[in-house]
Amino acid sequence: MIEGLRALFGGRILVEVGDITDFRGDAIVNAANSGLLGGGGVDGAIHRAAGNELLEACRRLRAGTLREGLPPGQAVMTPGYALAVKAVIHAVGPIWMDGKSGERKTLRAAYENSLAIAAEAGFRDIAFPAISTGVYGYPKKLAAVDSHAAVLGFLSRSALPERAHLVFFARTDAKIFLDALAEAGVGPP
Ligand code: APR
Repeated sequence: MIEGLRALFGGRILVEVGDITDFRGDAIVNAANSGLLGGGGVDGAIHRAAGNELLEACRRLRAGTLREGLPPGQAVMTPGYALAVKAVIHAVGPIWMDGKSGERKTLRAAYENSLAIAAEAGFRDIAFPAISTGVYGYPKKLAAVDSHAAVLGFLSRSALPERAHLVFFARTDAKIFLDALAEAGVGPP
């Protein structure tokens, strides 16, 4: 069950809490690694919920166009299989180093490229996890500002997708996100 906490940007950015594999919309973004063959965190949850066909589809990508894997900042789409969505958009976020190794640019690119794929596919509702804020160690408050800027910037220029759902697994993470935006003077108080 995914619970709505806050609507931003006229309801086009929705802050929610729950398990992203419960999302019922057009696409779920996966916080993948460059290898694209599954892992832990939300990547593991999505692969478990989608079933083995998702892994097979990723293996085909690695055997075909993505022999070297998917570079950080890039995104690629597969069907959603057993998930209640049409597609999974696998996006590779940056591993946080020191904030001076291009991580911020790469995180924005991961969001923007996922949104571009969704817009191109004509999707209306897409759900994002908080990319890079788990195993990859991206500071959560900075990720809030950077991910919000990337999503807001893209949606300001594009009618599709209609809504970006930012789905946090932990309620505390959603609170960190909203507090960070408030501190940065972004979005409604
Ligand atoms: N639904 C929504 N969000 C989730 C879920 C879930 N079921 N499970 C985890 N998350 C959240 C985490 O709490 C975190 O806020 O997703 C965010 C991203 O954390 P990770 O999944 O660790 O992803 P990331 O930090 O981008 O690291 C990616 O970790 O799991 C491996 O294979 C993955 O190598 C890749 C790396």
